[in-house]
Amino acid sequence: MHLYVDTADRHAAEALLATGVFTGLTTNPTILQRASRGVADIPDIYRWATAAGAREVFFQAWGQDTPTLVERGRALRGLGDEVVVKLVATRAGTAACTQLVAEGIPTLLTAVYNPGQALVAAAAGATYIAPYLRRLTAEGRDGPADVLAMHQVLAATASRTKVLLASIPDVPSMVTLARQGVDCFTMAPIVAEQLFTDELTAEAAATFEDAVRETSR
Ligand code: G3P
Repeated sequence: MHLYVDTADRHAAEALLATGVFTGLTTNPTILQRASRGVADIPDIYRWATAAGAREVFFQAWGQDTPTLVERGRALRGLGDEVVVKLVATRAGTAACTQLVAEGIPTLLTAVYNPGQALVAAAAGATYIAPYLRRLTAEGRDGPADVLAMHQVLAATASRTKVLLASIPDVPSMVTLARQGVDCFTMAPIVAEQLFTDELTAEAAATFEDAVRETSR
């Protein structure tokens, strides 16, 4: 199981990475913007994320054409061995992916919306694909079924490409897909916090502490 935090908010990310259960951090230009950051801040984000224990840090290459994406992908990977280069699963992004893969650079094809794109990603040798579950469902498609189809295509063909689920609405959605074998998830801090929140667990913790206090007099 690999869980990731989908944020560039340093405070939120560091608190979650400190739990030790998150493999790393995923970002894209929108996520940078939401944290009032931009691509110029990527080296700084890489530094604090790895210092906080992230073993994989995902940054997205930007640009319209394949040579630009390849050049930016190489520069991103130049930050360090923990970098995984994200590329949007367009034709240009996929072509850049194949070139970066040939150079041994780990990659993720993102904004994946249909199972056919899993075939392309596998042929490109991408390390991961990131389907957007919440957005798929919001568009009226059967998000969980489409994500499962992607996972099944990759598993049945023994592809090295894995589904890393993104745009996750809530914990039950993750559990549903994990039951079918999906084992990489990146989530916003608000969803990640739900993983540590159950009122019965909180109640049990308080009861145990009460018992310690009452038997320590
Ligand atoms: O990493 C996926 C993210 O950019 C989209 O998530 O929650 O905005 O649909 P969301």
